[in-house]
Amino acid sequence: MAFRRKKISVIGAGQVGATCALMLAGRGVGDVVLLDVHEGAARGKALDILQAAAVQLFDSQVHGAGDYADTAGSDVVVVTAGSPRRPGLTRDDLLAINAGVISGCCREIKKTSPEAVVIVVTNPLDAMCFLAKRELGFPRERVLGMAGILDAARFRTFVALELGVSVRDVQALVLGGHGDSMVPMPRHCFVGGAPLPELLSPERIAVLVERARRGGDEIVKLLETGSAFYAPAASVVQMAEAVLKDQRRVLPCAAWLEGEFGVSGLFVGVPCVIGGHGLEKVNEIEMDETERAAFAHSVDRVRALVDDLTRLGL
Ligand code: 2OP
Repeated sequence: MAFRRKKISVIGAGQVGATCALMLAGRGVGDVVLLDVHEGAARGKALDILQAAAVQLFDSQVHGAGDYADTAGSDVVVVTAGSPRRPGLTRDDLLAINAGVISGCCREIKKTSPEAVVIVVTNPLDAMCFLAKRELGFPRERVLGMAGILDAARFRTFVALELGVSVRDVQALVLGGHGDSMVPMPRHCFVGGAPLPELLSPERIAVLVERARRGGDEIVKLLETGSAFYAPAASVVQMAEAVLKDQRRVLPCAAWLEGEFGVSGLFVGVPCVIGGHGLEKVNEIEMDETERAAFAHSVDRVRALVDDLTRLGL
């Protein structure tokens, strides 16, 4: 029986893309192609990662490319191409800038990797997922957006710092769109099995929720020249690995909803089972009145962005 290594292509060799390539190779989930319109950047970073492999002893191949032909037959394609956030630029401001980039990438991916699971990272995330699905024409199982793992990682980090415990023992869920309207769910946050509301006052929880919501902005302001990339890349790798190893992880991801949570025809962050087919299932959970209202508001914000795509003829 012929053995075929998994192939993962990362589109965009900026900070997020290159860090994804490094982490994917380091975890040995398959061979990685890093592609960029600036071919030299992709090839240079790929070569650099390959030389890190010689020291850190991982044996994935990493190849830099400027031509989609090199990505052909990928099992997973991660789309990070586009402009990152900068101070004063919201994720939504990026809509017009990044729409053309995503459409162009997806037209190529459709031709070269028609069976791939595509993970979108470019902002504004939920609207870029919508565009990607439209251009790719793939079933919903194979188009996903990375946001909820990152947003939950931020919330988990702040909870762990507040309580002085290991972040390993903090589980959390953040739903809705990947923007200021995202919905951290304190009732669904557990610290070593204990619900967060039993461990912290509502006032402290509100402070941590707000910091998680603004987690991306906090880093944009500090960096001044771009946005976060280590935690976003780590979150992508968790999704890609769940697909490549058919792990059936339960992870918050942006998924195309077909009636779940009362929403149809939009990408929204929800709890998903991620396995070999990509999206295996959306896990619907009960929400209380406050959570439902916050989620509905977030969905409205995503819908407004998607309407903007149409209004702008994108
Ligand atoms: C973030 O939240 C840029 O959306 C990205 O850091």
